[in-house]
Amino acid sequence: MKNTAIILAAGLGKRFRGAAASGKVKNRVLKQFLNINGKPVFLWSVEAFSSIKSFKQIIVAVPSNMLKSLSLKYKRRKANLVFTLGGDERFDSVKNALSVVENDTNFIAVHDAARPLVSKKDILAVLKSAEKTGAAIAVEKMKDTIKLVSDVYIKNGEYVLKTLDRAVLRNAQTPQIFESNLLKRAYFKKISDAVTDDSQLVEGLKVKVSVVETRFPNFKITTKQDFKLASALFAFQSRISK
Ligand code: CTP
Ligand code: MG
Repeated sequence: MKNTAIILAAGLGKRFRGAAASGKVKNRVLKQFLNINGKPVFLWSVEAFSSIKSFKQIIVAVPSNMLKSLSLKYKRRKANLVFTLGGDERFDSVKNALSVVENDTNFIAVHDAARPLVSKKDILAVLKSAEKTGAAIAVEKMKDTIKLVSDVYIKNGEYVLKTLDRAVLRNAQTPQIFESNLLKRAYFKKISDAVTDDSQLVEGLKVKVSVVETRFPNFKITTKQDFKLASALFAFQSRISK
């Protein structure tokens, strides 16, 4: 079995930086390259996938201004690691990365670099399910009661339309793992511009995507508060493993 992991690390982290920082974005370190418990955020995911033998190729999509320095820095240290150019949208970053996936790859895992807590056990569970069905994604159950509200763009008119049935709702996470040709086909046949995950494109091919509930924290660092929480969890994990 030969699998590839695509780690997405080319976003601009607008929500992380907040509106106030928009003027000085160039000098700021993007959230996926900040140091967290001794390593850049993206490297935790690279190492989680590298620790699984079948992941023979790891591709990291990065912003253009970092491509050269990262390639030089990690080239000698990790032979199976390739850096590629990200794109304007998440979709474009995945598409670029797909162009360097080796032809004999069986399964492709797509993972957000902004989820550094991802555990080997959860990756293996999603992979096992993908091997059975061709397509599987990490999810978590909703903890809160979810409300459908009126159009959020009509600011003065936001109110509850209805309460959704929490029992059938899931929060989609990554990794999302697909049989290689299936994912390529889905990206070739892009159905919409507004895609925020890979599963949505595969669902568009009328393929059944299985869901696997994660057992360990795997939240995405979206805001500064998430970063603080992830830092605290890493610190706690390293303390109890000593
Ligand atoms: N990503 C990417 N290329 C893009 C956009 C996003 O590789 N053009 C990556 C991000 O680096 C992140 C993951 O996709 O690891 C999930 O995206 P998100 O959390 O939305 O990160 P950003 O797009 O960077 O943040 P924001 O939406 O707040 O700008
Ligand atoms: Mg984004």
